Amino acid sequence: MDTITPAGINDGWTPQSWRTCPIRQVPSYPNPDKLAAMEARLAKFPPLVFAGEARNLKAQLARAAKGQAFVLQGGDCAESFGDFTANIIRDTFRVLLQMAVVLTFGGAMPVVKLGRMAGQFAKPRSSDTETIGGETLPSYRGDIINGPEFSAEARIPDPARMEFGYFQSAGTLNLLRAFASGGYADLHQVHRWNLDFVQSSPLAAKYQDLATRIDETLSFMAACGLGSDATPQIRETEFYTSHEALLLPYEQALTRVDSTTGDSYACSAHFLWIGDRTRQLDGAHVEFMRGIKNPIGMKVGPSMEADDLLRIMDVLDPENEPGRLTLITRMGAGKVAEKLPPLLRAVKAAGRTPVWLSDAMHGNGITTAAKVKTRRFGDIVAELQGFFDAHEAEGTIAGGAHLEMTGQDVTECIGGARGLSEEGLGTRYETFCDPRLNAEQALEVAFYLAEELKSRRASRATA
Ligand code: PEP
Ligand code: CO
Repeated sequence: MDTITPAGINDGWTPQSWRTCPIRQVPSYPNPDKLAAMEARLAKFPPLVFAGEARNLKAQLARAAKGQAFVLQGGDCAESFGDFTANIIRDTFRVLLQMAVVLTFGGAMPVVKLGRMAGQFAKPRSSDTETIGGETLPSYRGDIINGPEFSAEARIPDPARMEFGYFQSAGTLNLLRAFASGGYADLHQVHRWNLDFVQSSPLAAKYQDLATRIDETLSFMAACGLGSDATPQIRETEFYTSHEALLLPYEQALTRVDSTTGDSYACSAHFLWIGDRTRQLDGAHVEFMRGIKNPIGMKVGPSMEADDLLRIMDVLDPENEPGRLTLITRMGAGKVAEKLPPLLRAVKAAGRTPVWLSDAMHGNGITTAAKVKTRRFGDIVAELQGFFDAHEAEGTIAGGAHLEMTGQDVTECIGGARGLSEEGLGTRYETFCDPRLNAEQALEVAFYLAEELKSRRASRATA
């Protein structure tokens, strides 16, 4: 029999112990033998990331929990097999770099760059089925599970998709690693990160001004002997990957024992998170996540009560390990002032210091009269503002932001510098799932965040 620890936690974790727990949001594969064969195949594949890298990220997150760094987590709601191109990967990476430079310079803070990339394929759905024109089919659950086309055949979960997901993740990660260390991310390139369509934006001048100041700073540093040869941080950057750990058969198959520590790491990405719909204390997703040693996250929506949060934290982070747990709150602009403070207070009183991130997207979904799913730029900024205000009032640390965004010039969220209207949404609405900020809107959020960090730093300095 499994042993029960004093905290009431069942200790008998194995990479497959989740299989005996109640599970939500799983696809039902029609052919279990085919699924088992794919799991066995994936289990032999090389890991996509290295345990040592996950430990480095954990150390960076530990700094963010103390207010010594700021986390920027962003990318598509769902990556898709059809959008697997170098340009799409480069453009998302490029906007994240731009945003990071705005935050680093404006906020005077190191920025932990964490892509929702190279594995963000599986999606929780509010309904198991979708009905169009009288026909009801299983819902689309992300490209690693089934296809988005509205046909009976496409919606059948197919284990072969996991293999394509693995290779797409490997290809994406390979390019990201090359961009991060092969010269593209060199700070001397800061002018070149501006995407063409952003150049005509009201934000372009603001960004160019900042880029010019960075150039001057680099020249000054080089004159002092701190050029990129002596300072690799100027030449390259650290970039980490993350996704929602929803498809547990896939995650289990990519879990490896680290030879230097004997610990188990999920090797599909550096950082995994539990979604707001699968965070049940006795559920399979919490069970799987508690045993892997990666830094992990959990989405925290408005239905979370403080007592429940503390109980889940005891399970996911029993040792209160620095950098282990990131709580990604997504309350909605209208609820954040009411719902967040009691959680911050309870967690602080329990002596815990998780990284707190604001997911300013998922609590702010609206549907237009024309039945288009969108989000208002103003609501996103309002939730971020509410997040900063709550942390300020409670004496806790606002550790970063989690955004759904893309480097493409899409028209999926209303508002922003160019004032995208409801009518304009149809122009380039390309998401397979939730509406994303386009590159210009994402950059605008970064400027807002930098101002916020700057003013809070100033008010602390004078306090
Ligand atoms: C998501 O991040 O795309 C998502 C589904 O979020 P949540 O679990 O917060 O609803
Ligand atoms: Co989403």
